[in-house]
Amino acid sequence: MDIFEKLLKNFGPLGQYADDADGYYMFPRLEGPISNRMMFNGKERLVWSLNNYLGLANHPEVRKVDAEAAAQYGLAYPMGARMLSGQTAEHMKLEQGLADFVGQEAAYLYNFGYQGIVSTIDALVDRHDVIVFDAEIHASLMDGKRLHLGQSFKFRHNDMEDAERMIKKAQEVVAKTGGGILVITEGVYGMTGEAGNVGGLAELKKKYDFRLMVDDAHGVGVMGPNGRGIGEHFGCEDAIDLHIGTFAKSFALIGGFVAGKKEIIRYLRFNMRSQIYAKSLPMPLVIGAQKRLQMMKDHPELREHLWEIVHAIQNGFREGGFNIGKTNTCVTPVFLNGSVAEATQLTYDVREVYNIFCSIVTYPVIPKGMIILRIIPTAVHTMEDVEYTLKVFNTVKAKLDSGEYAKMGIKSMTA
Ligand SMILES: Cc1ncc(COP(=O)(O)O)c(C=O)c1O
Repeated sequence: MDIFEKLLKNFGPLGQYADDADGYYMFPRLEGPISNRMMFNGKERLVWSLNNYLGLANHPEVRKVDAEAAAQYGLAYPMGARMLSGQTAEHMKLEQGLADFVGQEAAYLYNFGYQGIVSTIDALVDRHDVIVFDAEIHASLMDGKRLHLGQSFKFRHNDMEDAERMIKKAQEVVAKTGGGILVITEGVYGMTGEAGNVGGLAELKKKYDFRLMVDDAHGVGVMGPNGRGIGEHFGCEDAIDLHIGTFAKSFALIGGFVAGKKEIIRYLRFNMRSQIYAKSLPMPLVIGAQKRLQMMKDHPELREHLWEIVHAIQNGFREGGFNIGKTNTCVTPVFLNGSVAEATQLTYDVREVYNIFCSIVTYPVIPKGMIILRIIPTAVHTMEDVEYTLKVFNTVKAKLDSGEYAKMGIKSMTA
């Protein structure tokens, strides 16, 4: 059979909805300067779907440094992979700054968070080792685990009894193979907003021998009194052996990093395939990341305002009887019950009638009958944005509950 012919018969779990959704529900185009208000489908909307937590994406000081660095270095320098010809003092300076920020000895940059994470796991374990992982870890961590040739055990999300059971099973395996155990969790689960149970895993570390890797993509810059991430939040920085951050969220940039003990980072530098065999991060991104890191340290008021918005909107939802799950971070999922067809009508209403743009998640990403509208508060939102959004959500929930959207059928919107 021709592979291409096969692909055209089955577009995949998400692609199957392309005819109705492409360009509107999926791959929507947000235009204009990154802010709480952006253009969508020809009109200005209140945007709640960007992980621009601290509002750095379009901060004038940040934009100035980005522009100056681009003017000075262009977008190409340095050429080549770090190991061959892409090393600079600025890359190394940024790495030390990041390590100091998250309370680790050393760090190494990723060109993309995703690839870096895949290769970190790949470099750490061999077939004698066992991976123990939370059931809801991000696709990048799952892909890293998929490369693992040894055994792996999944524990129920954030369930420490189950984690302990799986660590014990892993112990039995490594007793025979002579390998070690790597436990993987996230700092903040980006879909539900639940903090990973890093404190619980830190406790388990006192009883069992394993290394703990935390993907803190949504935590760095946001969690903890100084924004140093989930370790600072739970007061267990010492228990984290590898602390991973990406620049895709609070840094509002591209790239990421892994931080840990000096000798382990040194090992990773020489063994992470996606970094060895790929071009070094361009200098404007490195200088831009240094600036953002400095902003995180110098401007605690950005984080304070972010949390004011978070608390206001989450309290408002709870008081209004909305189900926002177990979030204890900035990410705010609003769980509603309804079909995919109702979800499309509701989203269309929220966007086109009420001019609010937030991300929507439905089956097949989550179980049938469930709709998640995900709100990402940021430091550029205002209390007026919060009040307006709460009012609109009350209105659309009432319409959903009364069956108004169900009568309409699927709202097909393609670009
Ligand atoms: C938890 C988590 N890990 C890793 C990544 C991948 O990072 P990046 O976008 O830098 O490739 C993301 C998404 O950005 C994420 O949400």
